[in-house]
Amino acid sequence: MSIAYLNGHYIELEQAKVPVLDRGFLFGDGVYEVIPVYAGNPFRLSSHINRLRKSLAAIYMSLPQSDEDWLNLCNTLIEHNHYENASVYLQVTRGAYVERHHDFPELSEPTIFAMMSPLPPVQKSWQATDIKDFSVITAEDIRWQRCDIKAITLLANCMLRQQALESGADDTILVRNGEASEATSSNLFIVRDGVIITPPLSEHLLAGVTREFILSLAQQHGIPYEERPIPEHELLLADEVWLTSSTKEIRPVVRVNDVTIGNGEPGPVWRRMYEYYQVLKERLYLGEISGEAQL
Ligand SMILES: Cc1ncc(COP(=O)(O)O)c(C=O)c1O
Repeated sequence: MSIAYLNGHYIELEQAKVPVLDRGFLFGDGVYEVIPVYAGNPFRLSSHINRLRKSLAAIYMSLPQSDEDWLNLCNTLIEHNHYENASVYLQVTRGAYVERHHDFPELSEPTIFAMMSPLPPVQKSWQATDIKDFSVITAEDIRWQRCDIKAITLLANCMLRQQALESGADDTILVRNGEASEATSSNLFIVRDGVIITPPLSEHLLAGVTREFILSLAQQHGIPYEERPIPEHELLLADEVWLTSSTKEIRPVVRVNDVTIGNGEPGPVWRRMYEYYQVLKERLYLGEISGEAQL
């Protein structure tokens, strides 16, 4: 039985209910975070909480919770559930108000909800992963102009993901003004001539915690990287294409619009990064480092 958190209470997920007048339900008026948990440790929690605060500020909300309050919430949820690897989904909406009104009400109580979902077991060796045949299409980014806010309003992302599935691919890389920005729920990286390239932060993509982490891993291991725009056509010239997120970690893409990337297998730079990431997780399991350890 999965235990969730709702407005100060830890209850069975099936028992968690919110009023139909909740603005999250009526307007998609809310933001969220997804935090991976390895060996009972929330991974990069402070980066997720910083981004949550930025998302809240962008939609004219702020909450009194301290870093410690969020850590306690996550830890209590982790204690109640017994997953080896998992993620915490944390959502804040502006809450319910007595009538449906576009104006932000001054007196609504936010709704704070969190639940956990299992993640697949750690695969130390990249050969053992089942993610070697991931393909994507490209499509015009039909989302709004504030993709830097981690808003719960994800209908366009869902439609773009569905578009990929309908054409036999796994995900969609989004293109705006001729430039590839990110995928429907992950950031984008390519590798050319040994250099890792990812689009610079802007209002057209989410500042991924994993994106930041990968750039610091690259820096630590002396792998050159650039943050610069990626024209759509450059995807097909890349030696490697990856998608990254807190739950997918680093996912190698082997086909873009039916064109094979590299030799059609996860490339050597991905393999290095994958192993650095897994070694770090292994050290977390051994208790040698904390989820906040700096590289
Ligand atoms: C649109 C989008 N971009 C990027 C990401 C990756 O962010 P993170 O690495 O913080 O999970 C996500 C994660 O859900 C996302 O939804």
